[in-house]
Amino acid sequence: MKRTNTCNELTMADSGKRVSLIGWVQSVRDHGGILFVDLRDRDGITQLVFHPESGEVYQKAQKLKDESVIQIFGKVSPREAGTVNTALKTGEIEIVCDDIIIHNICDVLPFPLDDAHADKVNEDLRLQYRYLDLRRPRNLNLLRMRHKAAVSLREYLNSNGFIEVETPILFKSTPEGAREFLVPSRLNPGTFYALTQSPQQYKQMLMVSGIERYYQLAKCFRDEDLRADRQPEFTQVDIELSFVEREDMYALIENMLKKVWKDTLGVDIPTPFPRMPYNEAMNRYGVDKPDTRFEMELADFTEIFKKSQFKVFSAISNSNGGAIKAINAKGLADITQGELKGLEDVAKTLGAKGLAFIKAENGAWKSPILKFLSEDEQNALRQTLKVEDGDIVFFAAAPWEQACSILGRIRLECARLLQSRGKLDIPADKFNFLWVIEFPLMLFDAEQGRYVSAHHPFTSPVEEDIPYLDTDPLRVRGQHYDIVLNGTELGGGSIRIHNPVLQEKVFKDVLKIPADIVQSRFGYMLKAFKYGAPPHGGIALGFDRLVSILTQRQSIRDIIAFPKTQRGQDLMAQCPSPVSDKQLKDLSIKLDIIE
Ligand code: AMO
Ligand code: AMP
Repeated sequence: MKRTNTCNELTMADSGKRVSLIGWVQSVRDHGGILFVDLRDRDGITQLVFHPESGEVYQKAQKLKDESVIQIFGKVSPREAGTVNTALKTGEIEIVCDDIIIHNICDVLPFPLDDAHADKVNEDLRLQYRYLDLRRPRNLNLLRMRHKAAVSLREYLNSNGFIEVETPILFKSTPEGAREFLVPSRLNPGTFYALTQSPQQYKQMLMVSGIERYYQLAKCFRDEDLRADRQPEFTQVDIELSFVEREDMYALIENMLKKVWKDTLGVDIPTPFPRMPYNEAMNRYGVDKPDTRFEMELADFTEIFKKSQFKVFSAISNSNGGAIKAINAKGLADITQGELKGLEDVAKTLGAKGLAFIKAENGAWKSPILKFLSEDEQNALRQTLKVEDGDIVFFAAAPWEQACSILGRIRLECARLLQSRGKLDIPADKFNFLWVIEFPLMLFDAEQGRYVSAHHPFTSPVEEDIPYLDTDPLRVRGQHYDIVLNGTELGGGSIRIHNPVLQEKVFKDVLKIPADIVQSRFGYMLKAFKYGAPPHGGIALGFDRLVSILTQRQSIRDIIAFPKTQRGQDLMAQCPSPVSDKQLKDLSIKLDIIE
């Protein structure tokens, strides 16, 4: 089925040549006896012409439907003056066809395939016919960009001494992190594998093996609640190195991303990336992955409200760990009742008791709480938040971390409202990279009544904080770093513990995992560390997130060939799906579904 050219190649210079093209019929136009067909392949479009004089060939062409697959033979001819299409690379010529092979006539399509209609078609329908959805040039280009980014990453890592190693997907269940997918073992009835959440433990074992520099574009599986930037299976650019410190990791990743942005978009991103300690990120942006493309920073008024008449605020600011935070959404005083209610609901999902606000409108401040605020308190707000007419101020009063998180979310919601009003401009091609550093090693989980790892239990504490592991675990900083891009957590990693005694201490004394469970889950790792484990560290970048930001797509579903829905379903293949009793019996499993 040899073609002589792609559909994006032929120009005036080829006039007179006899050629053959293969592709899909983009459109058929009947111009009073002469048929014009736009033929499309993955590279572009070429116009075909069928004249009635060609007899049988013309008759065959008349049967063509959009998206049929054909091969044609014919001669390259200049188009008539006035019919040149400058938008196409092949727009100066057309192929006068003298033969045609019809490989397949296409049925009536479930939806139009042109890019203009792309996002108007219901996503479920597009996912059901994902193979058609992908046929649209825009989507094919997204896959191409994904490929380009992968090539660029691999080139970088290969040329820096990394070895790509594949690690198993069937792994041991270690329910410390995200919820896992379980796979029953037929050969060992009653036992299960878990699909790897990430190759974390394997890559650390590779360091013990002496690989020194490992990477992998690794498939990871997590049974989480799904969102626009989360899929149950996704890809990480997974990296681990021996004999490194945090500074080495920063430089390595900055240069890698610099190359990827250059190779894919031709954009020079400035390095080094700014760094921000976790505490500062929370205090200023209310989140550990700040979107620094716009301001609207949080301000702290805990001190100011200690003696306030507004009892809600004074009580919280005087309580241990309580904080009063506020933001000024500039120009959003025209917020509607419905929008305000929406913001309040968002705040409440994060545990807020309410969302106090002050509007500055027509030269006056309006607020249900204004009557409680003293002159001094109002002045402090006005000065710190630079309140002007047309602004609206929001408050959160709660324990510090919660107050920050609530306003962090409100800040993002306000940015969206301001953008939709044309009052906030975030250029689509702005890329704000940021390292968030100095995370605490541990968080206290009130529900479980114990400490949990902020990242994962293999993260090394900062050397000088190790003594506090026993006395004040929350004070211990971890050697953990997150890379953030435009408010998305692009990746995270850490320098690891390589001392078996310290690793065991973290499991048993700090995380309070019972000794027998430590042994059954992590025993092999603790043992391996006794046989000469090198100092090591690494990182994993969410490759799907990286590509979606690179291509300015809102959802990672757009840059995954066959993504799953929010309910974890593949609508095309229709799974998950039931299995037969015979299959279950082979696995020694009897179903008893608990509602
Ligand atoms: P972590 O759990 O932070 O770290 O994951 C690293 C990155 O993977 C991406 N990611 C996801 N992308 C899409 N869908 C998901 N469900 C999903 N979950 C995570 C994010 C995230 O930043 N082994 C450690 C890394 C290390 O310490 O080296 C790890 O997996 O972009
Ligand atoms: P109340 O006195 O409970 O009617 O609250 C007065 C205003 O403060 C209302 O607009 C509440 O939504 C808001 N509010 C109450 N508690 C908090 C809180 N913890 N943080 C922020 N706003 C609050």
